[in-house]
Amino acid sequence: MKARIAPSILSADFANLEAELATISHADLIHVDVMDGHFVPNLTLGVPIVKRLSEVTNVPLDLHLMIESPEIWASKYAQYAGSVTFHFEAATDPRLVISEIRKAGAKAAMSIKPGTAFSEVSELVELLDMLLVMTVEPGFGGQSLIQSTVPKVTEAFAYASNNSLELSIQVDGGVTADNIAELSRAGADTFVAGTSVFKATDRNSEIDRLRSLAITI
Ligand code: DX5
Ligand code: ZN
Repeated sequence: MKARIAPSILSADFANLEAELATISHADLIHVDVMDGHFVPNLTLGVPIVKRLSEVTNVPLDLHLMIESPEIWASKYAQYAGSVTFHFEAATDPRLVISEIRKAGAKAAMSIKPGTAFSEVSELVELLDMLLVMTVEPGFGGQSLIQSTVPKVTEAFAYASNNSLELSIQVDGGVTADNIAELSRAGADTFVAGTSVFKATDRNSEIDRLRSLAITI
């Protein structure tokens, strides 16, 4: 699968989001972290801002919902997104959330936190377009990748190959030019990068560099 780079706008200037999006036009996806202050301690933005973002970019929005009650909220976000990711740990009925996202016209993805084993979700992945393996505890940008999460990427990739699934595997948290090759070798194809893209002086060059460092399996 072709490597995709998804800059996280959590590291952008929230007072100038339209201008910030213009600086990352080489992105394959725009990663938008929606946090509710309950599922995670941090609070970011909601549906009205996601709607406006969708109106000022042609790059598909990749929404990462770190919120409670995805059964209620996921479909409201999905109409403005290319893909919507909810957290397995927040869902009471993951199958329902997946079908609601699809019905609203977006690709369906599910995420697992560092403490959740792949075996807990393996029977759900055949229903997904993408599995997000969190490589940090969700809630904040600028953290270092937790190395012990990487074997879950290997495990998910092996499961998808053995079962002939078209599953994209995304990693999020602490992704840098120093670890992206290792993550891609483990089987990830979609890479969220907040700090590493937004701190670069030429963000589009950094996106291109990250993409070229990721080895396509
Ligand atoms: C953390 C978010 C990430 C975050 C990544 O909860 O899900 O998307 O923005 O930021 P970096 O790349 O700085 O770790
Ligand atoms: Zn995220």
